[in-house]
Amino acid sequence: MAHKFEAARFARLMSPERRRELPPDEILRQSGLTPGETLVDIGCGPGFLALPAARIVGPKGRVIGLDVASIMLTELRKNARTAGLANIRTVRISEAAPVFPAGADVYLIVNTFHEFDDPAAHLAAVRRAMAARSRLVIVDFLKKKTHFGPPLSGRIPLSRILPLLRSSGFDVARVFRASPDEYGVVARRRAENPPTTKISKSTY
Ligand SMILES: C[S@@+](CC[C@H](N)C(=O)[O-])C[C@H]1O[C@@H](n2cnc3c(N)ncnc32)[C@H](O)[C@@H]1O
Repeated sequence: MAHKFEAARFARLMSPERRRELPPDEILRQSGLTPGETLVDIGCGPGFLALPAARIVGPKGRVIGLDVASIMLTELRKNARTAGLANIRTVRISEAAPVFPAGADVYLIVNTFHEFDDPAAHLAAVRRAMAARSRLVIVDFLKKKTHFGPPLSGRIPLSRILPLLRSSGFDVARVFRASPDEYGVVARRRAENPPTTKISKSTY
């Protein structure tokens, strides 16, 4: 089973120290999120990304926070109320049978991919939900020693995630450094039937 963050430690996820180490605005900038768009935050926790994303998308946009832990969703709702953000919805999701809201502009998975027991099944479910314009952004830990984060054995390095994305039907658009200790990947759903050259009758 994959290494799991202890839900009772949710406060650590919102600490100013973490905000300095892993600036959420930079991740959201890399996602290309704009006002009016919809973002699905998979493994949202108490809202480290969902709250700033809700400010960016504004009243015409929407953020949907998904998590397996109800305590995280309760914290996110509390934090959204305190921040006066009315455009965040929360949904409890199942680890064993993930289904994601369809047609969002951005699907975000921050420090959560390494917690999936079946990463390929999660990628397949995200791909099914995505539209042609959707972007998938995954941020996770590099395989190097840090004073926080999952144990080295529980990390998924870029050398594993990039081939997994490609074999799961994604095109990798960009890789970026989210922090000194974390990578980011932006991917799009590969078209099911890539456009083929039109052959006119006279050709054959
Ligand atoms: C380390 S926390 C990161 C939270 C948030 N993305 C952030 O960066 O602050 C990982 C979160 O993923 C959630 N999680 C773990 N497995 C999940 C799954 N299969 N589907 C949705 N959420 C999951 C955990 O409950 C936890 O809230």
